Amino acid sequence: MTTRWWQSGVIYQVYPRSFQDSDGDGIGDLEGIRRRLEHLVWLGVDAIWISPFYPSPMVDFGYDISNYTDVDPRFGDLAAFDRLLAEAHDRDLRVILDLVPNHTSDRHPWFVESRRDRGSERRDWYLWRDPAPDGGPPNNWLSEFGGSAWTLDPATGQYYYHAFAPEQPDLNWRNEKVREAMFDVMRFWLDRGVDGFRVDVMWHLLKDAQFRDNPPNPEYVEGAMSPYRKVIPAYSTDQPEVHDVVAQMRAVLEEYDERLMIGEIYLPVDRLIDYYGRDGEGAHLPFNFHLISTPWDARELEVMIDRYEGALPDHAWPNWVLGNHDQSRIASRIGAAQARVAAMLLLTLRGTPTIYYGDEIGMRDVEIPPGQVVDVRETTAPGRGLGRDPQRTPMQWDESANAGFTRGTPWLPLPADAAECSVEAQRSDPGSMLRLYRRLLQLRRSDPALAIGTYAPLPATGSILAYVRQHGGRRLAIVLNIGGKPAGWPVPEDLRGAEPLLSTSGRPDVISADRELTVAGDTGLVLEVPAGRA
Ligand code: GLC
Repeated sequence: MTTRWWQSGVIYQVYPRSFQDSDGDGIGDLEGIRRRLEHLVWLGVDAIWISPFYPSPMVDFGYDISNYTDVDPRFGDLAAFDRLLAEAHDRDLRVILDLVPNHTSDRHPWFVESRRDRGSERRDWYLWRDPAPDGGPPNNWLSEFGGSAWTLDPATGQYYYHAFAPEQPDLNWRNEKVREAMFDVMRFWLDRGVDGFRVDVMWHLLKDAQFRDNPPNPEYVEGAMSPYRKVIPAYSTDQPEVHDVVAQMRAVLEEYDERLMIGEIYLPVDRLIDYYGRDGEGAHLPFNFHLISTPWDARELEVMIDRYEGALPDHAWPNWVLGNHDQSRIASRIGAAQARVAAMLLLTLRGTPTIYYGDEIGMRDVEIPPGQVVDVRETTAPGRGLGRDPQRTPMQWDESANAGFTRGTPWLPLPADAAECSVEAQRSDPGSMLRLYRRLLQLRRSDPALAIGTYAPLPATGSILAYVRQHGGRRLAIVLNIGGKPAGWPVPEDLRGAEPLLSTSGRPDVISADRELTVAGDTGLVLEVPAGRA
């Protein structure tokens, strides 16, 4: 099997509202991203995935699209996109777009027409159902953002389905015309030269043809969980027919060279791997979010990693994600010290890593004063801690006003320590998180054992997580202390004499591994096994 660019490469997620503003409106834009490409080249990533920048009423900040083939004026225009794409390509950076095929905005002309009357030509482009006999919603399906997933349209007397906000009606993917229209959207951007798509909520695309009620969730705890989890979405998500759609999308990509399809899929490992397709005709990379959902404990992580590695079919390439615009930031979830160990884990596991913007400088969730909360997930279910504003705050570039993000008023606040925790401050500090990320990325780029080598777990106990990456005769052992206290690790016979190549602490605080290695708290090591010991 030849290695593809997206296998050895590293992806970096840009949330365009928050990366760099160029026109002073307090909202990031495409021209801003273009001006910051140098940072990404210096850091050493291979591709950027840009969250949606299409025309949108912004109910869900761009995940509610009213035109799939244009750029929202807040973010620029098609010419600005073409410039960004060309300059990224000039720098050997690939560009991946967000494709949101599950739902449109309620302002999209397709939905406007669909809702007009029951006989509309596009009525069947969305999911319309009659009310239940009592006049209520057709079934018990819930919206991920809270409440029923059905909204009544009084004018036509039917309900429409929306897995997210009422302003995000779901398309009917059983309708051939919907499929063709969305495949044409893909071709529009592929023809322009984009390198692939991250497909939004891929596991939601198809719903049960009979619209059966979802079963109640016996593990649901009122108040402690998102209200969405009251029922198990057995009939509203992850339907077997979804794989035909995914394969069709993949076939569209195959009309072009070397394009990548990532699927956003929040499912347990055994369900997730189906999205690769039985013979590899599915997504190249069904996003693996298990580093986010697994408790930060060495043994739990070990089991999860091995379960994932063990479940992957031969044709499937793994991938790993530590954070994104929907999740609390890694530095806030596990603390600044462990976030360094997490960086080493992300960048030394086998498979394509995705870095969330700002994680390379250890950005934390920013507390949002109540009057400044804007995320629909918080405003529809206030006080439950479901809001995503804290992890979407502006990128912290330097010590100038608003950390260099905007000369206007930023759409979300910056933290008080933005100047210290910034790209500029950390570039000149050899011990910084940013320099650690860069070193790890350089090592990964130069060492095939890390980029494409095999993975094997190593025995460890307590807070130590250890594994080997190997390519040809080259062997690296990665030993991570997932706890805050020093921990011992008995060095396996065949690894004795391994020398430290990189430490998260930046200090050469380890001598070569003899019988027992003591790893300082919150520290990770990459050890090089001398040639001839393999
Ligand atoms: C995905 C996006 C999220 C959005 C949702 C609905 O999960 O990542 O931000 O709210 O889809 O489009």
